[in-house]
Amino acid sequence: MSFTFRNFPAARDDLRADVLAGLAARPKSIPPKYFYDEAGCRLFESICAQPEYVLCRAEQALMAHYMADMATAIGEVDAIIEPGAGDCSKVRRLIDTLRPAHLVVLDIAGAPLAAAAEGVARDYPRLAVTALGMDFIRDLEAAASWLPAGRRLIYYPGSSIGNFAPAAAAALLARFRRLAGEQGCLLIGFDLKKDPQHLHAAYNDAAGVTAAFNLNLLVRLNRELDADFDPALFRHYAYYNPVEGRIEMHLASLAEQDVHIAGERFHFALGETLHTEHSYKFRGDEFSALARTSGWQPAGEWTHDGFAAQLYR
Ligand code: AVI
Repeated sequence: MSFTFRNFPAARDDLRADVLAGLAARPKSIPPKYFYDEAGCRLFESICAQPEYVLCRAEQALMAHYMADMATAIGEVDAIIEPGAGDCSKVRRLIDTLRPAHLVVLDIAGAPLAAAAEGVARDYPRLAVTALGMDFIRDLEAAASWLPAGRRLIYYPGSSIGNFAPAAAAALLARFRRLAGEQGCLLIGFDLKKDPQHLHAAYNDAAGVTAAFNLNLLVRLNRELDADFDPALFRHYAYYNPVEGRIEMHLASLAEQDVHIAGERFHFALGETLHTEHSYKFRGDEFSALARTSGWQPAGEWTHDGFAAQLYR
């Protein structure tokens, strides 16, 4: 078994700086990457099991149906690189089919990533597994020195690309292009535009799990930045904006109130929102136009139940 783990400097100072800057901005906002503390990761898993949120199940079914087809289109690869790999469960199907020599997984949550990646290394003794605990949105280029030579496939599933505004998504795809190298390719998953009522329901599940996921951000700030948010004084508010083609997720203040964070005071007017996430939805042609601007050439597309995977070279 071959397993290497490297944890990049902790992101605690970034959390403080990003939160203070986001709360000083108008509208107030916090980057969605901060949802994923331990409780946030668990809540996200639970969102994926909600009947209204079909995205995860649709992607799993798509991969199960079309994996053989995709493998033919991808060809031989020496390394799979997965940014935001989380529990490393999705990449196993690709390992089984493509049989690369190397796997490099990246995630901001270093400890759970290391545990999951070590499990992969145990289950695939001939695979060299490298886990990099890093904020790849900030530090992606630092991963370059950990990548083996040979043909690379970057795997970015789960519609995570939808959580970036279009310019930031294009910039990230361009950075993936450089990391992949000349012979490299990209397999990316994204949620398709569909009936707005279905999208609305997916982010307003009846069990309130998405609401708990959103509000957990305040609990995290209370714990990690000595903040004094009262979660009962904020309401989860999510809706589909058909003009922008995105779900917008906010936390709306239910009172006029002051909140203290890391020693600073912030005022919320009644009804003012803290913007926590965009989740863009695409048509296939819209997404490929975006990817082309980042230097990628389309090489395949598969769709299933409102979800798409596209392959680029
Ligand atoms: C991770 N990401 C693709 C999810 C999404 O649908 O945008 C995060 C999420 N937010 C609320 N529900 C799920």
